Amino acid sequence: MARSKPVPSTVLVTGGAGFIGSHACVELLDHGYEVIVVDDYSNSTPQVFARVERLAGRFVGAVYELDLRDRQALSAVFDRHPIDAVMHFAALKSVTASTRQPVEYYDANVGGTTALLHAMQNHGVHRLVFSSSCSIYGDAGSGPLDESTPAGPTNPYASSKRLCEEILADVCRHRPEYTVLCLRYFNPAGAHPSGLLGEEPRGTPDNLMPYLAQVAVGRRERLRVFGGDYPTRDGTAVRDYLHVMDTVEAHRVALDHFGDSAGMRVYNLGLGIGSSVLEVVNAFSRACGRPIPYEIAPRRPGDVAELVADASAVNRAWGWRPTRDLADMCRDAWHFQRLNPNGFARPA
Ligand code: NAD
Ligand code: WQD
Repeated sequence: MARSKPVPSTVLVTGGAGFIGSHACVELLDHGYEVIVVDDYSNSTPQVFARVERLAGRFVGAVYELDLRDRQALSAVFDRHPIDAVMHFAALKSVTASTRQPVEYYDANVGGTTALLHAMQNHGVHRLVFSSSCSIYGDAGSGPLDESTPAGPTNPYASSKRLCEEILADVCRHRPEYTVLCLRYFNPAGAHPSGLLGEEPRGTPDNLMPYLAQVAVGRRERLRVFGGDYPTRDGTAVRDYLHVMDTVEAHRVALDHFGDSAGMRVYNLGLGIGSSVLEVVNAFSRACGRPIPYEIAPRRPGDVAELVADASAVNRAWGWRPTRDLADMCRDAWHFQRLNPNGFARPA
């Protein structure tokens, strides 16, 4: 029997070629949504869509290569498609690069978001799921952080995400027709269990898990562990890693909850379990069956000692919780890397 169309039924996915966006496309297609994508491929490749469609057994409705800040091109996308809701993943995401290029980060992340809001406003689209980040909490101290933790971003990337949150909150405060679900991800990691989709950033990975995977597959010599002198159980920084499949499942569940109430709602997405860098290295070594060479290096500017979520609010609100653990993330990230030692360039 044909599945009845979900409401909302057509979702615009910005940054849909990227790590989380590409997994979100599969999740949405699997659940009967029409998917329209915009991406400028600044950190991704269009080759990913053949894999998205192979996994979903369906076509993406349309894919547009454009920079969100190209307002005319973005407006034309809204003209052409009956968009019900937007998942806004498109952004620059490197903490390190943001300290070198703060202007570019504010322009892309804040300017990209206001350009999107303009297009939504002009086309009567008022439902948005926004990709925020645990980095907005900054150096908030140890212990699980809930959504009431005061923001204290420590780098331009995190500040740009916090500014977007403030803009979205203001829009919702003054325009009651908007509903924004702001999801503060802790550290998404892992890959699609098929090995067809995963994290394949352009250039040298900034994030821990793709870097580890590239060391394991022989593309890089060793991991540099940034900081061995943090006040943590083994001196390395502690983060809350969340499987990308859980991350995108939460986004799909979010679409069922726009109608709960208007305005902006903010939820942490995390497992609520902290893992140190060395614990992740060990878990990855177990997954790939070989030791990962590493050296302790100086701390990375802008990093903090510990970020762990109290992610109970999303469970109370939507009855949703993540189901995959760090071992699952390492297994799936390794499976993807092993099948795609050179990324998406060659067929899996
Ligand atoms: P990603 O870099 O893999 O994906 C982002 C996508 O957006 C890329 O395909 C890129 O080409 C595209 N893009 C960037 N700027 C654009 C622009 N101006 N116009 C059109 N497309 C543009 O990153 P990701 O890991 O998938 O992250 C997705 C979102 O989640 C980002 O907003 C990021 O800040 C946020 N986030 C990610 C993490 C994480 O650890 N991956 C954690 C917290 C928040
Ligand atoms: C994790 C830990 C590093 C690489 C940031 C944002 C977050 C999210 C993900 C954007 C840290 C250490 C890393 C390496 C290492 N945002 N590390 N050697 O910095 O926790 O989070 O990126 O997309 O919102 O704040 O993630 O994966 O870069 O680092 O030792 O080569 O691994 O110092 O402690 P981070 P990460």
